[in-house]
Amino acid sequence: MPDPLAVDPSAGALPARATSRPAPDRPERLNGAAPAVQARALERTFAPGAGVLDLSLEVRAGELVTLLGPSGCGKTTALRLVAGFERASSGELMLWGERVVGPALHLAPERRGVGMVFQDYALFPHLSVAENVAYGLAGRGLRRRLSGGRAGRVAEVLDLTGLSAVAGRGVHELSGGEQQRVALARALAPRPRLLLLDEPFSSLDPALRGQMRAELRAIVKRAGATALLVTHDQEEALSIADRVAFMWRGRIEQVGTPDEVYTRPATLAAARFIGDANIYDRPVERGRVATPFGEYEAPVGRSHCYVVVRPEDLQVQAGGTPGRVVEREYYGHDQVLHVALEPGATPGSPGAGGLVRVRLGPHERITATGPIALGLRRDPILFWE
Ligand SMILES: Nc1ncnc2c1ncn2[C@@H]1O[C@H](COP(=O)(O)OP(=O)(O)O)[C@@H](O)[C@H]1O
Ligand SMILES: [Mg+2]
Repeated sequence: MPDPLAVDPSAGALPARATSRPAPDRPERLNGAAPAVQARALERTFAPGAGVLDLSLEVRAGELVTLLGPSGCGKTTALRLVAGFERASSGELMLWGERVVGPALHLAPERRGVGMVFQDYALFPHLSVAENVAYGLAGRGLRRRLSGGRAGRVAEVLDLTGLSAVAGRGVHELSGGEQQRVALARALAPRPRLLLLDEPFSSLDPALRGQMRAELRAIVKRAGATALLVTHDQEEALSIADRVAFMWRGRIEQVGTPDEVYTRPATLAAARFIGDANIYDRPVERGRVATPFGEYEAPVGRSHCYVVVRPEDLQVQAGGTPGRVVEREYYGHDQVLHVALEPGATPGSPGAGGLVRVRLGPHERITATGPIALGLRRDPILFWE
């Protein structure tokens, strides 16, 4: 995947096609309930000259929204603003229709009804699983939290998260995946109105991550919770979300379903960061832009535009653009070819080393260094400035 930070793709980049920015007149109510989160220009300023974080986002009741963006773009800060651990310098935040941040208003975190799962889980190592979970409940003293109705709730949440069998164990005896579920159980125990999760999979090894994603989503849905989950991992963000909010340099650039943000990125930054892309910076001549795979209509009056071709949108095609496979990455479920197009076939810069990345199914028989001809399965995505 190209380094999303290598170029400045954000400068005024506009989508060539329909975007999935939420329409301002979209109904704000679902099943009669107010949206779980409505952040309107919720701002946090940093040192003079540094950027600002400007959060405008809506999470609907019952939704799992992932906040996706590169490291350092402000995701954790955004989550802390919603939780109340961080003070906004201006803007407004409503949780379930109740204003919690506004002019001269900053409701304390413990009064927002928000549950948080921290990146490092922040579990108490000297307490058992059940005690850690009970800690999330109100009441004085652990013993009291573990008795009566609260004990019932602890048992219920342990059951929900599949931890009943390890309730008495110390958290240090647990696997990474189990520890993560304890953190989730503790956050869910008081029935928060909103669950906030900061990179909850980052300390798990890759093999476990995929499994835990599905598990976490299932638990959140079973609990009927509304959740905002932060991640820098695009695959993770796409695979577990109802909707994805893409954050870039302190702002949400696009909100949409996973397939919307992937197939119709609203900005060049989104196209580069979410998924793999061959990007051509091409001049526009008489309203047309030439690519190695054909000519496309471009906005009249623009001098150049970016053409984004997803590797999986290319296919082997008799009579297509000729080239030579110079490398093949085999993944089992698919394969990625690095193709050097024939001289003359490549106007503009197709990416690192002038190679085009092509993603094919695993069953296509490809000679690792042979000739190939390529065509597009669908029109490329265009962005212009
Ligand atoms: N828009 C911004 N402009 C300048 N500094 C920022 C901005 N957003 C966050 N920061 C600062 O950058 C650092 C990383 O922010 P953080 O919210 O932890 O990013 P992330 O969780 O996306 O990696 C923090 O020190 C934060 O205060
Ligand atoms: Mg972070």
